[in-house]
Amino acid sequence: MTSSPQTTRTAIELPPSVHLERGPGGLPRLRVAGRGGGAEIYFQGAHVTAWRPTGGEPVIWLSGASNYSPGAPIRGGIPICFPWFGPNALDPSAPLHGFARLHAWEIVEADEVGDDVSLTFRLSDSEDTRASAWPFAFEATYRVVVGTTLQLSLEIVNRSSAAVTYEEALHTYFSVGDVRDIAVRGLSGARYQDRVLGVGSVQEGVEPLRIEQETDRMYSDSAGTVTIEDTRGDRVIRIRKERSGATVVWNPWIEKSKAMADFGDDEWVETVCVEPCNAGSTAVRLDPGARHRMAATIDVLPLTYR
Ligand code: BG6
Repeated sequence: MTSSPQTTRTAIELPPSVHLERGPGGLPRLRVAGRGGGAEIYFQGAHVTAWRPTGGEPVIWLSGASNYSPGAPIRGGIPICFPWFGPNALDPSAPLHGFARLHAWEIVEADEVGDDVSLTFRLSDSEDTRASAWPFAFEATYRVVVGTTLQLSLEIVNRSSAAVTYEEALHTYFSVGDVRDIAVRGLSGARYQDRVLGVGSVQEGVEPLRIEQETDRMYSDSAGTVTIEDTRGDRVIRIRKERSGATVVWNPWIEKSKAMADFGDDEWVETVCVEPCNAGSTAVRLDPGARHRMAATIDVLPLTYR
């Protein structure tokens, strides 16, 4: 696919805590150094690749083997999956997880609000997206608030004259001390599709989820808060979700990591993906002109939190 042009300057004025720079591969990104926290966000995919609350350790994981080139997904951080999740159901040749992470988003607002820094990015349909497996008119607005918490909200407006259905995920890679030593809580009782075993395999979540092998699960009926108890990292990462009916948990484990060129062979130990999403049975249907906003707030708590 053709990628959108990469921004070398912004149309809006940036506040003092936000700097425009070039990252690896020359890809432009914003470096945010707010009082509450710091972050890094690439225009390509409006992709957050780092966040840490001031005085804390990094929360978001980024692969040392990632690609950084226009039109290729960055490995790690928070890819936005939209308007489909995983392979496209109608077109197996379409890129995995949709086109949103492959296009340059435009920044439309950047403000300091108390100790937080709020940034808003926008992506609308283009000739490229209209030629894709999801050819509809839309406007996507992604707001990232960087502070002692990381607040993410993705709003989609249907600008087409017909109803549309889409899937979406904030495919967050979290940094953990050792993935074999974490407990994921908040998914108990939710049914999940085991994507390692195949789409037909539906099971019920038990508490806590421990990662002991390749894990790729889509939990439906999981609109509530999910926590990652990270014993080695001595902290709990909390993900509070709004209007996200499903959660994906993914870790590629040993063999799959080796098979992925943009994922270090041993990096599977350092990360787990917990992804607020609306996909599969929770895909969103929007009438013409209607909008839907999915949001997540991430923060860090002491290990004693449960
Ligand atoms: C997860 C999916 O969300 O993303 C996995 O559940 C997939 O099936 C993983 O392998 C990574 O996808 P990609 O396209 O970034 O390699």
